[in-house]
Amino acid sequence: MAEVTLDLRHAPKDRAYAQLYAHIIAVLAGIDDDVTAMATVAALVHHAFRHLWTGFYRVVSADLLRVGPYQGTVGCLEIRFGSGVCGTAAAERRTIVVPDVKRFPGHITCDADAKSEIVVPVFDRRGALIAVFDVDSERRGSFDQQDADGLERMMRWFAGDGRG
Ligand code: SME
Repeated sequence: MAEVTLDLRHAPKDRAYAQLYAHIIAVLAGIDDDVTAMATVAALVHHAFRHLWTGFYRVVSADLLRVGPYQGTVGCLEIRFGSGVCGTAAAERRTIVVPDVKRFPGHITCDADAKSEIVVPVFDRRGALIAVFDVDSERRGSFDQQDADGLERMMRWFAGDGRG
């Protein structure tokens, strides 16, 4: 199929995520490769909302994340579990919404323009944590429960949901 990059900046979030989810599932049909999926999801989400930074940190050992496929300015290469927003989401295996990064103790600044962010854990079919998905915005308060719900649903592709 022709891969189309959606522009959903002006759509209500519920509609935007529904459309983006359907698009991602269609684009990834027949793909069974996590890195290909991560690169494609990062590009589609990033450009749909024109975020500042959108991408994955992969779990490479018991307590270390290393940057994976992403879009945006250069990201930090490695993050320890428990450190920053990504490392905290990985250690606690839960989604974290940060409306103002200045108020998150230990936030790791890769790009000084980042003002708010959301990090969602990514699990495989067996329930093992394989990555976190990090989205950064140059505006404060960009993310809420609708983003958490929309992105968590998307990340369930890696656990097998929606795979053909
Ligand atoms: N803000 C993140 C670091 C990763 S980058 O922003 C790409 C954090 O504190 O986990």
